Order: sequence, then C-alpha cells, then structure tokens
Amino acid sequence: MAELVVLGQKYLLGNYRQAPVVFVRGEGSRLYDKEGREYIDCAAGVAVCALGHAHPRLVRTIAEQAARLMHVSNYFFNEENVLLARELCEKTGYDKAFFCNSGAEANEAMLKLARRHYSAAGKPEKFRFIAFDNAFHGRTLATVNIGGTPAYKEGFGPKLEGVTHVPYGDLEAVRRAMGPDVCGIFVETVQGEGGVTPAPPGFLEGLRALCDEHDALLLLDEVQTGIGRTGRMLGMLHTSVRGDVVSLAKGLGGGFPIGAILVPERLAGALPSGTHGSTFGGNPLASAAARTVLSVLDDEHLVEEAERKGALLSSKLQAVAAKHPDLCELERGQGLLRALVLKPGVDARAVLGRARERGLLLTIAGGRGLRFTPPLVITDAEIDLAVERLDETLRSVRLDLVSGG
Ligand SMILES: Cc1ncc(COP(=O)(O)O)c(C=O)c1O
Repeated sequence: MAELVVLGQKYLLGNYRQAPVVFVRGEGSRLYDKEGREYIDCAAGVAVCALGHAHPRLVRTIAEQAARLMHVSNYFFNEENVLLARELCEKTGYDKAFFCNSGAEANEAMLKLARRHYSAAGKPEKFRFIAFDNAFHGRTLATVNIGGTPAYKEGFGPKLEGVTHVPYGDLEAVRRAMGPDVCGIFVETVQGEGGVTPAPPGFLEGLRALCDEHDALLLLDEVQTGIGRTGRMLGMLHTSVRGDVVSLAKGLGGGFPIGAILVPERLAGALPSGTHGSTFGGNPLASAAARTVLSVLDDEHLVEEAERKGALLSSKLQAVAAKHPDLCELERGQGLLRALVLKPGVDARAVLGRARERGLLLTIAGGRGLRFTPPLVITDAEIDLAVERLDETLRSVRLDLVSGG
C-alpha cells in the first residue's frame, strides 16, 4: 500500500489532501483497502454511492450496457438517455432534462440557462445572481464564483461579474440584495460542504416569494441533497417550494459520473440548439446506470428508508454528542446527510484520521462538521457499528487530551 501512495504522490497533481489509504474493493456499505482492512463507508464517495458499492443490479447494468453501446454523442438520440429523461421528469414534475457529467457542469448549465432566459426575453440587463456565504457549487471558474468560499476564488483572475453573496438563512439580507437586475437566486436546500446546514424554516419559501416578486428564477442546487439523500427524492420536497430549475449529480449515477438539470416547459426555450452542450453528457452508459439507480431506489424503498435511517443516525449521533460534550457541539442534518459538529479548537482532521484508523470513513464539512453521507443501503446494524466506532474514536481523542498527548 505504501508504495502506491508514494507513486500517487509522485504522479498525481497535489490538489487533493489524500489519506494514505488505497481502496481496492467495496461491497454495500463496506470498503476494503489493499491490506484487506475493512471500513464502514459513511462517506460514500462524498454522497455519491447511493446504492453502496458493487450493487449487483448496477454492476449488471453497467457491464451489459458497456457491451452493447457506450457512447454515440448528442448528434443522435440514444434509448437509455431518452428513457432516463422521461423517468426523471415523471418523478419530479419537470418537463425537460439536460445531461452532463458532474455537479459543477450541471450548475454551469443552470447559470447559463438563467442568464440566457432573460437575455432571450429582451432583458439582458438581468444577469445578477444572489448566492450565499459558505455555499458550494463546484470548482469550475463560474461555480467557484457562485460558491461562498473566498479562498476558492483567489488566484484565478478577475471574479465573475454579477454575483452578490449574502448570509445563508438571512431572508432580510436577500431582500436588500434583490433588484431588477437579478436573474436568479442560486441556493442549496441544505448547505452540504458548508457544514450540513439545513435551510431554516421559511427560508426557501421566502426566497420563492422574492423570486416571484422580482421576476427572478429560483435555482436549486440539489447535487448533494437530491436523489433521495435527505429522505425525499429532492430536498425541496420537504417544503412547499418548487425551484424553477434543479441541478443534480452525485447520487444520480450511484458512482457512475452523470449530472443533469431539470427544467419546466416555460424555460425550455432558454437554451436552444447551439447554445450549450457536452460531448459525454447523456451517454448511454451513464444514462443506463442512472435508470438503474432510480429503479433500485423505488424497488428497495430507499428514499423512505433514508428518512427512517436518518432519524436513527441522528438520535445515535445526539447520544454521542451528549457523551462527549467537551468535544462535540451539536448534531444536525436531514435524512442521511448529517454532521456531528465539533467544538471550536478540536482538530476535526485529526478526529477524521483516527476514525479512519478505527474503520470508519467520514468527510469534513464546514471545517468542524464530521459529515455522514452513507450509502442509502446502509443497514441499521452498520449505523450502530459506525456510531460505536465514532464513540471509540472520540474516547481516544479525549484520553489524549487528558494525558496531554
Ligand atoms: C451542492 C453541490 N453542488 C455542486 C457540487 C460539485 O459537484 P462536482 O464535484 O460533481 O462537480 C457539489 C460537490 O460536492 C455539491 O455538494
């Protein structure tokens, strides 16, 4: 394993802080490294592997589709893609889909659609976006500029013109920032990377009302919250709010790269032929994978299960937080998108490393949040085991603090 880590450090661009672990195999919610150690995967490739690893139906679909047809380009239709578009529209009530390969690309499409919608309507001056502090929308030039982490924008030349950031949850600040030049409010229903912060009650409803009042589009980034993660098919379904456009990626392919935006008929004309595209977007292989993800979600009732298991995980994490009040501040989240927020001064990265050594994979969100985004197929027993491993981890951290280690 160590040899591969050295090779990786030599040949891979150092833009990630990669842990010295090499995974070779996965099954359900378990991952196995090159030395045969087993881990409970509560990261799921950052909220991606909704069906866990090596789900037999997803494996079969990908193998069979690869053997039949992998790529043809968007100069032609392909069956899997058309059927996926129909299934997604029928499931969500939108009318049209555009496909790409990642969350950032889906968000780029959503940004372009919003601006072009107003430009085509003879209002090119309506191009400003309202976005939020601590938001995360991807790493392309436009999406880091919509995102709310200043450090991610530094060193990449002039900032994108026409973006105003306000604090997440602060409806009054949004109201003050609105104006006739605003084309869209760009928002996550739960801020994922920013720290697993659900929209406060009434916030999304307030944004919807402001968009209606000012003739602007409500653009929902559901890349992390979508496809059942929060216990509803889309995060917005926890409220009465409907986004004008929704972006998806992550869980949609269950590990196979795919992104999408969903659009109502009245906005479908914003991106006519020649205005946007993607070579790989909507390819038969990715589309077949996504179709299988959607049908497994239905057949195994995984969206409802995400709500039930989320409540179970939440109560267990609250108990852990209560047991370690010196290390933990609180627990929060929605469905199977949750975080245990550590107290200021506790080294989250060190805790993450120790959890990994005990066979528990997590990610960090918002600096102090130990984020849980397990596969939606995780079992109750695995949730128990994951929380036990976390408890042991925190106990060992406390022992070190007490002994000054
Ligand atoms: C809410 C949200 N939007 C967009 C993205 C970017 O997705 P990708 O990394 O697939 O480009 C992410 C990734 O974490 C995300 O959480």
